[in-house]
Amino acid sequence: MKIQGQPHRSIEADLTHRTARIVDQTFLPHRVEWRTLQTMEEAAEAIQVMRVRGAPLIGATAAYGLFFALRDDASDANLQRAYDTLYATRPTAINLRWALDRVRRMVEPLAESARADAAWEEALTICEEDVKTNHAIGHHGLELFREILAKKADPSSTLNVMTHCNAGWLACVDWGTAISPIYQAHDAGMKVHVWVSETRPRGQGASLTAWELREHGVPHTLIVDNEAGHLLQRGLVDVCIVGTDRVTAHGDVANKIGTYLKALAAHAHEVPFYVALPVSTIDWTIQDGIRDIPIEQRSGREVTHMPGLTEEGIRQEVLITPAGTQARNDGFDVTPGRLVTKLVTEHGAFDANAEALQKLSGMI
Ligand code: MRU
Repeated sequence: MKIQGQPHRSIEADLTHRTARIVDQTFLPHRVEWRTLQTMEEAAEAIQVMRVRGAPLIGATAAYGLFFALRDDASDANLQRAYDTLYATRPTAINLRWALDRVRRMVEPLAESARADAAWEEALTICEEDVKTNHAIGHHGLELFREILAKKADPSSTLNVMTHCNAGWLACVDWGTAISPIYQAHDAGMKVHVWVSETRPRGQGASLTAWELREHGVPHTLIVDNEAGHLLQRGLVDVCIVGTDRVTAHGDVANKIGTYLKALAAHAHEVPFYVALPVSTIDWTIQDGIRDIPIEQRSGREVTHMPGLTEEGIRQEVLITPAGTQARNDGFDVTPGRLVTKLVTEHGAFDANAEALQKLSGMI
């Protein structure tokens, strides 16, 4: 997608030096700051402190991280050490394990001298596939948008889409998952408007989704998270679409905290609630999302403090509670499959239940 009209990806390989360049998302939306990753430790740190975030991009960055480790030392012991370090960075996004397993499976049978090259190629392939996959998700999502628009009293009116967190190109290598159909609808000339919920505490909606949509010229309005029910109740939302960090084999969906409340409200008002994902986000080993998906516990400081830009242009963090207030900060919640209208994948749209996902597993 584009930054000030120039095409970019959230992670870009330098083929000459075999490094990876990322947009450091901790500086957005106020500054576009590129950062070069060249060691496993740098890749792990970037994931951990959320310079990169979003399930597919976490996986892609980890794949490069494994390459950096093997370039330094391709022994079995170092492979294991790097795998463990990268795997420990964030617990909920299953794409992390998926990407690490994929690179490890590729290199393990090889002689040590061939491992780094193979890991590099695999990391590049993961990134290329991510772009194609997300484009396909966008295509299938756009078909669903067209169906919804056709059913509106005035099909030439604007489609109002609500999203949560950031599942755009910044969360992937390109296009995004939930935002991909929005970009494709906008590019195809459909009148589309996005309700962007700010996504407290870290504000990925306010800082990242709003920034992306602005760069692409997609009309959008920022709302506080608590406004979602009100808008749904008044018929101001035609469709909700979000991304996910992990889907169980029975269709339960983990996504950024606050997703569940939106799904409940959408269900109450009979508004379609779609979840967009690459099949690499499905954890086929678990069924019950509430029981089995590990939920990241984050620092209470993200709740008690707010970062922002002062009028003088200085980045600052301010305390918004009485000093010493205790805060709980679960990074994600689980939406049961029964509240999900469709899972939109690169292979098409599927019901969020065991039977439909069984069918999908036969297609991959
Ligand atoms: O904590 P984050 O910013 O990594 O959380 C990201 C999300 O919850 C996204 O919706 C999810 O990873 C899907 S990204 C295509």
